[in-house]
Amino acid sequence: MSKLKIAVVGLGKAGLPLAAVIADAGIEVLGVDVDKKKVELINRGVNPVKEEPGLSELIKKHGGNRLNATSDAITASKECNVHIVIVPLFIDDSKRPDFSIIEHAVESVGKGLKKKDIVVLETTVLVGTTESLIKGILEKNSMLKAGKDFYLAYSPERIMTGYSISRFKEFPKIVGGINGISTQKAFEIYKKFANPFKVANSRTAELAKIAEGVYRDVNIALANEFFKVSEHYNIDFWEMKEAAKHQYCNILEPGNVGGHCIPVYPWFLINSMNVPLIKAARQINDDMVRYYADRVDKIAKNKKNGKVGIIGLSYREGVKEKAYSRSIALIGLLKKKGYNVYGLDPLYTKEEVKKEFGIDYIDNFRKMDAIILMNRETSYKKELIKMKEKIVDVKNTLNG
Ligand SMILES: NC(=O)c1ccc[n+]([C@@H]2O[C@H](COP(=O)([O-])OP(=O)(O)OC[C@H]3O[C@@H](n4cnc5c(N)ncnc54)[C@H](O)[C@@H]3O)[C@@H](O)[C@H]2O)c1
Repeated sequence: MSKLKIAVVGLGKAGLPLAAVIADAGIEVLGVDVDKKKVELINRGVNPVKEEPGLSELIKKHGGNRLNATSDAITASKECNVHIVIVPLFIDDSKRPDFSIIEHAVESVGKGLKKKDIVVLETTVLVGTTESLIKGILEKNSMLKAGKDFYLAYSPERIMTGYSISRFKEFPKIVGGINGISTQKAFEIYKKFANPFKVANSRTAELAKIAEGVYRDVNIALANEFFKVSEHYNIDFWEMKEAAKHQYCNILEPGNVGGHCIPVYPWFLINSMNVPLIKAARQINDDMVRYYADRVDKIAKNKKNGKVGIIGLSYREGVKEKAYSRSIALIGLLKKKGYNVYGLDPLYTKEEVKKEFGIDYIDNFRKMDAIILMNRETSYKKELIKMKEKIVDVKNTLNG
C-alpha cells in the first residue's frame, strides 16, 4: 500500500475525536466536512467542539499538520486510501431513517475510490446497510467491485460525547466486513490506532451497535416504571435502587432518553419486525415528559399563566446538543397546558435559549411557580435546595 492517509468524512462530535485520535497515533488524516467554518477552524488548530475534554489539545497539536480538513470530498477521496464515514443518520417524523446525508457522503467517496482502498462505515445504521446500500453506491460511482477491487467494512462508533477520547481508547472497536478479506483489511488498519475486535461480518457489527443502544433504552424504561411504582407505594426510589443492587440486578437511572443515538436506534428494529418489548420501552421513555408535566400541575396547582422553569435544555448535561432533546417536547407540552415556560442551560447563552428553544431565560428562580431539573446540573444546587418543594428533580441532583 502507498503511504497510509485516512479520510474521516464527517467531523462532528463523533468524527472529530476519531480523526484526532488517528492523527495522534502518527497517521496522516484528511477530515472532510460540508461545514466550511469547521474546516477552517480545524486547519488553524482550533477545536470547534469545545466541550469535549482533551480534544482541544489534540486539535491544537495536529490541526493544520497531521490533521487537515477540507470540504472538497471527491479530492479528499482521491488523496486517501482509507475512508471512514461518520456522518449522521436521522429519522423523519414517521420514524423512518433518512439516508440522504450518508448517500451524499458515500457518493463522493465512491467518485475518488481507487483499487485496494478500504472504506469503513461507522455511523449507526440498519442491519444490512453496509452490504447493500453502501456497497451499491460505492460500486456505481467507482466502477470497482467491493470485496475484490476495494474493501468494505462496518465498525460502529461506540464513544459517548464528553468521554470520546478516553472511551475510544478503553473500548474494543468492533470490525466486520462484507467478506473475509474486507474484515481482515479493516482490522489491520484499526490495529494502528485502536483496539479492534473482529466479528463474522458487517451485519453482526451493525446489530451489535443497535443492541447496545436498545439495551440502554429498555433498561431505562424499566427504571422509569420502578420510579413510578416507588411513588405509588411512597418509597424512595433511589434508596430502593441501591438496596436492590445485586450481581444480576443493576437498575439504571430513570429519566429522559434524548440525543440522536439511543432514541433513534430502536426504530431500526421496530420498523422492520415485531419487537414489542423494544417498542413499549420507547413509548415509556418518551412519555416521561408527560409524567413530569403532571407533577408540575401538582406543584403549580394548575395556576393560570403560571411560570415554569426548565433547567437543562440539552439532551443531557455537558453536551451542547438539542437533537431529540426531551426538553423540547416538554416545552411544547407545558405551553399547551397554558404555562409560561422559561429555560436555563449552562451550555447555552441567554440569546441562544431564546433562539434555539423559543423561551425566555430564567433570571430568577424565585419567580418560578415550579422548576423541572431535567439534567444533572449541579451548579445551581445551593439555591435550588432551598426551594425543593417547587422542584421536579428528574435525576435526583439535589440529593446526590
Ligand atoms: N455523538 C455521539 O456520542 C456518537 C456516539 C456513537 C456513535 N455516533 C454516530 O456518529 C454519527 C455522527 O454523530 P455526530 O455526533 O458526530 O454528529 P454531529 O451532528 O455532531 O456531526 C456530523 C457532522 O457531519 C457533517 N456532515 C453532514 N453531511 C456531510 C457530508 N455529506 N459530508 C461530510 N460531512 C458532513 C456535519 O457538518 C457535522 O459536522 C451518529 O449518527 C452516530 O451514528 C455518535
